[in-house]
Amino acid sequence: MGLGKKTVEELDVRGKKVLVRCDFNVPMKEGVITNDNRIVAALPTIKKLIENGGKVILCSHLGKPKNGPEEKFSLAAVAVRLSELLGQEVVFANDDEVVGENARAAVAAMKDGDVVLLQNTRFRKEETKNIDTFSKELASLADCYVNDAFGSAHRAHCSTAGVTDYIKDTAVGYLMEKEIRYLGNAVNDPERPFTAILGGAKVADKLNVIDNLLEKVDTLIIGGGMAYTFLAAKGYGIGKSLCDETKLDYCKDMMKKAEEKGVKLLLPIDTVIAGSFPDPIDAPIDVKTVAADEIPADMEGMDIGEKTRELFADAVKASKTVVWNGPMGVFENPTLAAGTLAVAKAMAESDATTVIGGGDSAAAVMQLGYGDKMTHISTGGGASLEYLEGKELPGIACIQNA
Ligand code: 3PG
Ligand code: MG
Repeated sequence: MGLGKKTVEELDVRGKKVLVRCDFNVPMKEGVITNDNRIVAALPTIKKLIENGGKVILCSHLGKPKNGPEEKFSLAAVAVRLSELLGQEVVFANDDEVVGENARAAVAAMKDGDVVLLQNTRFRKEETKNIDTFSKELASLADCYVNDAFGSAHRAHCSTAGVTDYIKDTAVGYLMEKEIRYLGNAVNDPERPFTAILGGAKVADKLNVIDNLLEKVDTLIIGGGMAYTFLAAKGYGIGKSLCDETKLDYCKDMMKKAEEKGVKLLLPIDTVIAGSFPDPIDAPIDVKTVAADEIPADMEGMDIGEKTRELFADAVKASKTVVWNGPMGVFENPTLAAGTLAVAKAMAESDATTVIGGGDSAAAVMQLGYGDKMTHISTGGGASLEYLEGKELPGIACIQNA
């Protein structure tokens, strides 16, 4: 499938200032980066621009600062890590207003191949509201713009979209290209049989994903917390398990749609239950397994049972393309990780094209040690979900066509 967008390959950057939106929204604990995957994933584009003689001005958000600048959301640690990974200096332009005195001076002093990182774009309140003033300031720093922040492509913010009102020479980066290629091909041009596996706590988060995927897949697997609302919609007693009463009719509609479309919809046939949710989340817990329609009133389902694991793994084995988003149970707890592990293992051992749709499932796959066994692990959480919903992402739409 053609991308249809100009890419970093085709952008003439020699001697030019290039503003690059990355997704450096990495997990941090007390100022230390706990997982640098998103920084590593941004390297190919940055290296290419350096190699081609561009002046590389990087920007990103980090976290969700609500009231302007906050030390704990500073990108300072990212500048350090990035400089280690690139093996060259990354000048951190530490301005609370992002495009301030430091940024302007740093950019003015750049030579071809230099790299500057701006401060967290969300330090400016205009950013998430996509207000022109900040888009213009960002644009004033550069001659061309590259969006490589797939993880933020579902946001129409100043740095992800608004800035393209003022910089016309635009392209997508390698990461963006790779994400669109893997997710896009899997969903729109899959080798069949095509199976999608959805999990996670809430049905409400996946309404449009389920609806859209039912148009595309041969098999749809539903596990995780959201499966209990489906089981309730089938008329099963689900005890204290997660249930979204407002979505029972929706679940019935989706089961009907699956039937009409000839899509195999697989729900848990047995489930791991406990008296109450573990606190803390990884605390030891007493569990047992019961059939999906035999959950006692005072118990709560927290993982798929053994028979379900086999059922889901068999479906994976029979597929040529598998897309997965959302864990099968409370995988943060070792006792409740078996379902998620079984799905990850089945995918890792299959020859199918296997795509992990970011967020919790990506974290689970990596935590369980299968990170390098998948065809593609998306760096986007919300962005991959919206992509699976079939939505156009503003951060991609704003880039000029090829
Ligand atoms: C993410 O981690 O999902 C992206 O970086 C987007 O972050 P946001 O949800 O705060 O916009
Ligand atoms: Mg998010």
